[in-house]
Amino acid sequence: MNVPAAIQNRRAVKNFDLDHKMTKKERETLLALALLSPTAFNIQNWRFVVVDDPEQREKIRAASWDQAQVTDASLLIILCADLKAWKKEPIRYWHSSPESVQKFMVPAIQQYYDGLVQVQRDEAMRSCGIAAQTLMLAAQSMGYDSCPMDGFDFEADRKRGRRSPPARR
Ligand SMILES: Cc1cc2nc3c(=O)[nH]c(=O)nc-3n(C[C@H](O)[C@H](O)[C@H](O)COP(=O)(O)O)c2cc1C
Repeated sequence: MNVPAAIQNRRAVKNFDLDHKMTKKERETLLALALLSPTAFNIQNWRFVVVDDPEQREKIRAASWDQAQVTDASLLIILCADLKAWKKEPIRYWHSSPESVQKFMVPAIQQYYDGLVQVQRDEAMRSCGIAAQTLMLAAQSMGYDSCPMDGFDFEADRKRGRRSPPARR
């Protein structure tokens, strides 16, 4: 368990090997590790959108100040959040807990977020930040460099997302 090595070796890398392809198993391992990231009340409000289509990647690159990582990395993950995850059948986040825990947690979730738009958004940012770091350190431990990015034209990406089918988990 060499977490310090992953932390020390991780750098925001700009140049990726165009010829390298991650295997399906490596991608699944990485995403499975990311899904173990903690979230408040276990609401799992992150959504990981993997973009494989080269044409989509080119368009996203164009809306990302032409940053080469967007097309050149062997894996591109757009980290999104469901701001309303807290109210979508919250019992499912606690289904394997004793009934007494469920009875406490499910109303507590509702009470914590209901009507509080800023709290819902802050929670998304916290969950995604932690998940992003989990992804990068897990990738590093698997021998992969990464680059966190928010150098986007957000409006252009948001419009493109609206035209695409919703992300699924
Ligand atoms: C939220 C966030 C957004 C970033 N956006 C970009 C980006 O758009 N392009 C880029 O090349 N690096 C980006 N970076 C990488 C930072 O420039 C980099 O993490 C920082 O300079 C420290 O270097 P290091 O990560 O190699 O230690 C971003 C980092 C963070 C945390």
